Amino acid sequence: MDSKNEHSEKNGTEGGNQSILEETLRRLHAKHVDCQEGEVATYIPELAKGNPKHFGVAVADVEGHLHELGDSQIPFTIQSISKPFLFGAALESHGRDEVLKKIGVEPSGEAFNSVELQQGGRPHNAMVNAGAITATSLVAGSDPKKKMARILEILSGAAGRDLKVDEATYRSESETGDRNRAIAYLLHNAKIVGCVEEALDLYFQQCSVLVTARDLAMMGATLANLGTNPVTGKEVLSFDSVRDVLSVMFTCGMYDFAGEWAFRVGVPAKSGVAGGILGVVNRQMGIGVYSPKLDPLGNSVRGIRFCTDLADEMGLHIFNFTNRGSGFVRAAFGVG
Ligand code: DON
Repeated sequence: MDSKNEHSEKNGTEGGNQSILEETLRRLHAKHVDCQEGEVATYIPELAKGNPKHFGVAVADVEGHLHELGDSQIPFTIQSISKPFLFGAALESHGRDEVLKKIGVEPSGEAFNSVELQQGGRPHNAMVNAGAITATSLVAGSDPKKKMARILEILSGAAGRDLKVDEATYRSESETGDRNRAIAYLLHNAKIVGCVEEALDLYFQQCSVLVTARDLAMMGATLANLGTNPVTGKEVLSFDSVRDVLSVMFTCGMYDFAGEWAFRVGVPAKSGVAGGILGVVNRQMGIGVYSPKLDPLGNSVRGIRFCTDLADEMGLHIFNFTNRGSGFVRAAFGVG
């Protein structure tokens, strides 16, 4: 798909407040578009093919109004941004108490692919690989095909369209996934994960699902809208699962930058090594950014800068005095 480099909106109403949002997106996109900092991830060969020039942004509110700019419709692999949804799937399948026996909710202070578990054998949380492999093993389904169908159902339901696995990335993940194999066997040894190869295969597939910045915004809006996709009206996750998912995203979603992000941007978020960031402004809107150049911690450089500025300018931080709940962003979209 070609770069769009134009602004589009769906169902939006014209109005002064809406043009403030459009103007803000345009200005912040222009501010960061020339940033060259960071490196495209190369540890998985398919990821190295990401185009460093790509920069797409999108926001969607809880009524399904969408605004997007730049390369917002370029597909890339979701990578770790699938992790919150996998945690949600595990919670839906087994309930909070059972899931918490196998996955913790503490920031790890370690890299996402650290081969390390808590004392007792639980992964630190569901946003690092150990937790996501465990969550994957907990997805409901009588065979691996049905489990993958369930994973795709949740991701697609949140995005509001059918998402697919990129086969080349899936193969590349699997061929280079020995660190994840080490983690999975450690989990098996701790009796946290039963069928190791099945969990790994599903994990590699789910990392390889293709999305766009627009999809991420809509997936974020689904979480902001308490688990129901605002356009399709389909319930993807229950209220209770969404609360638990957002809590862990807030404390653990941005690798070792999670504390800094919570301090500066102040919204639950998850990043992926292909360059995506999904942000959730609770009860208000989802934010999707795609820019493949990453900082040393694995977060999209332009994504962090764009989201920091957007949160600052729109007062999105969860504890910002201007963030008065859904009325604020509804007004900014011109629908309040
Ligand atoms: O497990 C891996 O190496 C990746 N496919 C996961 C990617 C990712 O975005 C890491 N984030 N926590």
